[in-house]
Amino acid sequence: MCWFCFLVQCSLSDPSACLPTILFVDHLLKFTQDICNFWFYLLQAIMDLRHLDKFKITISPIKGTRHLQVSAYLDERKGKGTVRIITMFYRPGPHELQCIFNCNKGVPFTTPAQVEQHSDNFGFPFVTADVFCETSYRCKATHVGLQTQGSVQNNDSLMPIQNLQQRNNGFERDLTVCISNLFGDYNNVLQFIQTMEVYKILGIGRVVIYNTSSSHMLEKVLHYYVNEDMLEVIPWPISHFLNPSRGWRFEEHGGDIHYFGQLTTLNDCIYRNMYKSRFLLLNDIDEIIAPYQHTNLNLMMDELEKKQPDTCVFLVENHTYPFNVFEDSGRFNLSLWRQVPGINIMKHIHREPDRKHIVNPIKIIVNPRKVEQTSVHSVLKRFGNQYRVPFDLCRIVHVRVPLQGHLSKEELIVDTKLWEYHKELVPRVNKVSFMHPAPP
Ligand SMILES: *[C@@H]1O[C@H](CO)[C@@H](O)[C@H](O)[C@H]1NC(C)=O
Ligand SMILES: *[C@@H]1O[C@H](CO)[C@@H](O)[C@H](O)[C@H]1NC(C)=O
Ligand SMILES: *[C@@H]1O[C@H](CO)[C@@H](O)[C@H](O)[C@H]1NC(C)=O
Ligand SMILES: *[C@@H]1O[C@H](CO)[C@@H](O)[C@H](O)[C@H]1NC(C)=O
Repeated sequence: MCWFCFLVQCSLSDPSACLPTILFVDHLLKFTQDICNFWFYLLQAIMDLRHLDKFKITISPIKGTRHLQVSAYLDERKGKGTVRIITMFYRPGPHELQCIFNCNKGVPFTTPAQVEQHSDNFGFPFVTADVFCETSYRCKATHVGLQTQGSVQNNDSLMPIQNLQQRNNGFERDLTVCISNLFGDYNNVLQFIQTMEVYKILGIGRVVIYNTSSSHMLEKVLHYYVNEDMLEVIPWPISHFLNPSRGWRFEEHGGDIHYFGQLTTLNDCIYRNMYKSRFLLLNDIDEIIAPYQHTNLNLMMDELEKKQPDTCVFLVENHTYPFNVFEDSGRFNLSLWRQVPGINIMKHIHREPDRKHIVNPIKIIVNPRKVEQTSVHSVLKRFGNQYRVPFDLCRIVHVRVPLQGHLSKEELIVDTKLWEYHKELVPRVNKVSFMHPAPP
């Protein structure tokens, strides 16, 4: 029946008579809303179960040592049967380790391990290291682990060997962004949503984030993108094992390992996506690698690949757009967005100029199949050339704390690159913001 028609009718004839009905309808509506919410959460929990990845163990101790093992990948570029194990290695040692494989689904088999520490350790006691293990064709191992030399064979901390199936074409996607770490109470929700939506417009197929901890507000948004298959969250419970540093230099910041183990996660991301994605973008959560001559990054990479066929590392300049300098028109001062905590990147179109004698920091786009070891701003070991992408072709839009805070607005350069996406961007960001309004 039509409750609404009934209500209008009765309120016109005798308003007081229909008060109980109004209350009843009110309760009924609220009840329906509760049921809807219940289904929404149940559905979300079921959807989450599909992404079992998040329950995967990503860090485990190597018994009898302070070393931590992270993941294992078959790496035939280094020789047939070579397995590379990514670790967080305690530099004082022990330096002698053994690999243990489960041959033919059970029988353990050990071989000596070869440890190669990465050159970037910034003075911290723990460093990213690759540990190489040779398996034989007859062994048919699916799992591998590390142990100290001479210890009893023990297969309870074996990790699956990934990349057993390798392909050099037919990728799941062209572009993937690796975000090294999410930690602390990162609550910059609006900038996160806007960035994710710009990424989609630019042709990025997936974002991979290593999650140590996140704020309650951001958590909901993360789930939204996980369910959309746009985001993959890899658990990174590093604080259970180490006292990770929040900085990048041991003398200055202390702690066990550089910046929450960022270098380890970036290397893991390369191997994890080696045969899934044509290119990887290694940038931060608040950085947008933007093409200035192409409508999206796929077209730009097609062209770069054609012009630079032997290049596997593309260096892109990072530019700062101070978050405390606003544009004047108020064009994107939208009421819906004001309810979401965080920076509204569309309000910041002023870029800091280059400084003489200071090289702009760079971020990298890589062909992961040609990269062996990476750092944050450079690749440490690779099987190809690197190329500095010209500033007028591509650069990073990074809305953040100013670096040249003494400059007046007039001394900054107006750059409205992100505004070009507004027609698509505004409704997309509205949709996500609307589903995640701030608590009253
Ligand atoms: C560990 O070894 C035992 C026997 O040696 C075997 O039954 C079991 O399947 C092995 N586990 C794994 C994960 O290989
Ligand atoms: C991120 O990690 C925290 C801490 O382990 C966890 O509570 C949270 O559910 C994780 N978030 C996602 C989206 O997996
Ligand atoms: C981005 O560039 C600024 C300088 O323009 C630099 O200080 C900042 O550290 C860079 N961010 C990263 C994460 O590289
Ligand atoms: C945005 O709009 C609100 C409400 O109209 C106003 O109070 C605020 O000052 C505006 N902010 C900017 C940066 O224009």
